[in-house]
Amino acid sequence: KSYEHILTSSPAPGVGLVTLNRPKALNALCSPLILELNDALLAFDADPDIRAIVLTGSDRAFAAGADIKEMKDKTYVDAYKNRFIENWGVLASLRKPIIAAVSGYALGGGCEIALSTDIILASPTAKFGQPEIAIGTIPGGGGSQRLLKTIGKSRTMELVLTGRQFSAHEAERWGIVSKVVREGDGEVVREAIEMAGVIASKSQLAVQAAKEAVNAALDQSLSEGLKTERRLFYGTFATSDQKEGMGAFAEKRQPNFTHS
Ligand code: HXC
Repeated sequence: KSYEHILTSSPAPGVGLVTLNRPKALNALCSPLILELNDALLAFDADPDIRAIVLTGSDRAFAAGADIKEMKDKTYVDAYKNRFIENWGVLASLRKPIIAAVSGYALGGGCEIALSTDIILASPTAKFGQPEIAIGTIPGGGGSQRLLKTIGKSRTMELVLTGRQFSAHEAERWGIVSKVVREGDGEVVREAIEMAGVIASKSQLAVQAAKEAVNAALDQSLSEGLKTERRLFYGTFATSDQKEGMGAFAEKRQPNFTHS
């Protein structure tokens, strides 16, 4: 399918790639781009041949934020009535794992989109930030909430109140980014596709259960989360893939998962 502001492909078996492609505006996230992004993500989530997704931008910008020119004259009434940015939540509702491969600017809504994915890989050039305070507003795509869960109150307050950018290495040290990859154009997306390929080689049912279990820790109390994890764990015993995986171990061979 062809889109105006994004590109989609399947660069490796089981892997779907979405590339934000609005270079003149540093991938500013205008409403038509978000509609296309949601359409592509939901299509990959529903596609039985795709088991892991990578989301990336360009070497210069993952995304420089929501489109300021589009928001400039927006009224409260328009934002409220038309549920402005509510549809940004699609990303966090996917069942399949999604990896953000971040190079260059990931600011404002761009940072929030990255924080809504499951794993962030960053190029050494990545520059994160929630700079909304500098234009008279605040994060609206989850930045204030998701940052706090990962990096704590003091750092979140500092970043959201000053709007300063933070580096790939700071993000890695704080646990936002799982790895800063080697320098080089395209390196971060190559590594992300490789990681997605590893995930896609596992049982899809187990992968999705694992994602659901980890996410339960963000939303639930420890005792509820432990119960959720245990139920999902029990659930894997109803799959052929658990029989195949443990059978293959016992027989000292590689498993052949059928995602059933
Ligand atoms: C609209 C944007 C944009 C944005 C960049 N551009 N960011 N357009 N919305 N968020 C456009 C510029 O207007 C310019 O277009 C072109 O992209 C290149 O940008 P330059 O500023 O010329 O590049 P540079 O000098 O290299 O500076 C890069 C930059 C700067 C530091 C990233 O562009 C910048 O500060 N952008 C805004 C970052 C920001 O505040 N983001 C948060 C937005 S609020 P022209 O046509 O002039 O060449 C937000 C709210 C989220 O995200 C809440 C909702 C979920």
